[in-house]
Formats: sequence, C-alpha cells, structure tokens
Amino acid sequence: MKKTFLILGAVVIFMASFSKADLAKEKTVVATTTTNHVAFQSNPGEKLINKSDCLGCHNKTNKIIGPAYVDIAKKYPATEKNIDMLADKIIKGGTGVWGNMPMSAHATLKKDDAKLMVKYILSLKKK
Ligand code: HEC
Repeated sequence: MKKTFLILGAVVIFMASFSKADLAKEKTVVATTTTNHVAFQSNPGEKLINKSDCLGCHNKTNKIIGPAYVDIAKKYPATEKNIDMLADKIIKGGTGVWGNMPMSAHATLKKDDAKLMVKYILSLKKK
C-alpha cells in the first residue's frame, strides 16, 4: 500500500513538472508572435499609406509617378513646418515641386492622418 502511494506521488510530481515546462514553451510562442505583430505594424503612418492610394504613384525607393519617399525625406528635414506643409499638400494635391506631374487631392484625409504619413515618409532614409 505504501509503495503504491509512493509511485502515485512520483507520477504526480512528474506530471506537474511536465505541464510547467509546457506552459513555459507556450509563453515563448506567445511572446514571439507578439513581437512579430508589433514589428509588422510598427508605424501608424506606414499603415495609413498602405490603406490609401499612395502606393499607386509612390514607391519607397523608386520614382514612379510621384517622387520616391526616400527622396522626399532627403529634401525635407522633419520639422513641424515641413510636416504641416506636406500634410496640406497631400490633402489638397498639387504640382510643380518635382516636375509637371500633379498629385491628386485627398480631400477626405484627416489632417492628423496626413501628418502621420508625412512623419513616416520623412523618417525614411536611403540605405
Ligand atoms: C496620382 C498620383 C499620386 C498619388 C495617388 C499620390 N501622390 Fe504624392 N505625389 C505625386 C506627384 C506627381 C508628386 C510631385 C508633386 C510636385 O511636383 O509638386 C507627389 C508629391 C508628394 C509629396 C511631396 C510634396 C512636395 O511638395 O514636395 C508627398 C509628401 C507625397 N506626395 C505623399 C503622398 C501620400 C502620403 C499619398 C497618399 C495619401 C500620395 N502622395 C498619393 C503623385 C501622387
């Protein structure tokens, strides 16, 4: 009888430590997924750009119809004044700074969202 208890006790201890290890493994998996998630949507401005029509005319590193974002970042230091001016330009559209191609207006864009987009663009530097 005593022996049975001993064996039973050993089994319980074994199982307890096993499930603890399992839990630790699960925690690691959750932690990795969370990090990936954060990295994927790291910048709110980038997310807004991906949701809008910007990518039809702009590319991060190459000129398409509009200038490359890295070139815009090179031209304008990220000052409050530049961010404000460029956000207005995205909303109203315009032409003449980079050539004759006009940028379409984005009248429904919120000023704060446009500013987030500009902040993201100006944070890009050519590598
Ligand atoms: C129809 C094509 C088109 C779309 C869509 C477009 N752009 Fe442009 N963008 C241009 C062109 C062309 C220029 C250059 C305008 C100029 O020379 O003044 C430009 C210029 C810019 C500039 C620099 C402005 C300046 O005065 O130097 C920024 C910043 C910019 N675009 C951001 C955006 C963002 C953000 C979006 C999406 C909300 C967007 N663009 C959508 C064509 C486009």
